[in-house]
Amino acid sequence: MGWIKFPQSLRLASAGRVKILTVPGSVDLSVNVGALRLTNPIIAASGTFGYGVEFAHLVDLNRLGGIVVKGLSLEPMAGAPPPRLCETPSGMLNAIGLQNIGVRAFVAEKLPALRSYRTAVIANVFGCTVEEYVGVIRILEDAEGLAAYELNISCPNTAHGGIQFGSDPQMVGEVVAAARNAAKRPLWVKLSPNVTDIAAIARAAEDAGADALTVANTYQGMSVDTRTRKSRLGRLTGGLSGPAIRPITLRLVYESSRAVKIPIVGLGGIEKVEDIFEYMIVGARAVQVGTANFSDPGACGNLVDTVEKSCSKANIHKISDLIGTLHADNP
Ligand SMILES: Cc1cc2nc3c(=O)[nH]c(=O)nc-3n(C[C@H](O)[C@H](O)[C@H](O)COP(=O)(O)O)c2cc1C
Repeated sequence: MGWIKFPQSLRLASAGRVKILTVPGSVDLSVNVGALRLTNPIIAASGTFGYGVEFAHLVDLNRLGGIVVKGLSLEPMAGAPPPRLCETPSGMLNAIGLQNIGVRAFVAEKLPALRSYRTAVIANVFGCTVEEYVGVIRILEDAEGLAAYELNISCPNTAHGGIQFGSDPQMVGEVVAAARNAAKRPLWVKLSPNVTDIAAIARAAEDAGADALTVANTYQGMSVDTRTRKSRLGRLTGGLSGPAIRPITLRLVYESSRAVKIPIVGLGGIEKVEDIFEYMIVGARAVQVGTANFSDPGACGNLVDTVEKSCSKANIHKISDLIGTLHADNP
């Protein structure tokens, strides 16, 4: 018995809330990411699902565990010149340049519609200085309808010669502590995978007050058209995502989950339910799905539909029982 909506469930009105009795044989898909309870572990990843509302005619948004909206900056950003995407073996490169409508337009134009859904809405936040991160959070703090913040720290720190915030434990500590100070809502910190020691970065974020870590963002990469000898992207380099990165990010999730006590949200190349299980077994409490939305805009909804069946088949009654169950004793 629980308080969560399950597909095969019996609803009873009780004490002003809806009490759910699960039918024997049904699967408990709920997970907790710190204080935040999600109806299932499947979350749409930032930058691959617009501001959520654009997908409402394609996916039942209420069925998703959560939606992370496109990264929000203090002022609107026009982004990078085209082409912005290019296909690579088992993945793709993107150089969007963090195009977005800006935090004020998000609050005025997107959040009112998003608020009407039951799914957890997580605001992805970024800036070029610590003050900009704080400025975005301050504006969001006055708005209703958000479940958490996700700090994208894979951005150049202009006050420190353009080095990525996420590549240096001290800079991670500074930006996370400042955001923590400004935010009353849960604070997730999305790590960059382009680092030598993810455990050190994960610990710096935890020590500065992060409630959860999202592991991880895209890998810096390049692709060249040999005929023109130019980059296939409008910028020289881009971020690699999709199934190609899954084994690499899986290791980062495993290492991060061993380094900190706060929950980990895993993402990188998830396409199938088995991929979700893999991430949860190495320690992720929930997962995000990004590039898969490009080949099938219904990918997140389809995964929610199939995850329960897959759990039943595998005799998993509570999906959270999978978390951190890796047998690390291989010879
Ligand atoms: C086109 C595109 C835009 C993205 N924009 C953002 C963004 O604004 N903020 C962010 O934190 N991550 C962004 N990401 C990274 C994804 O959220 C995700 O971390 C990454 O793509 C790896 O997951 P995947 O392999 O499932 O796509 C973007 C990725 C893509 C492909």
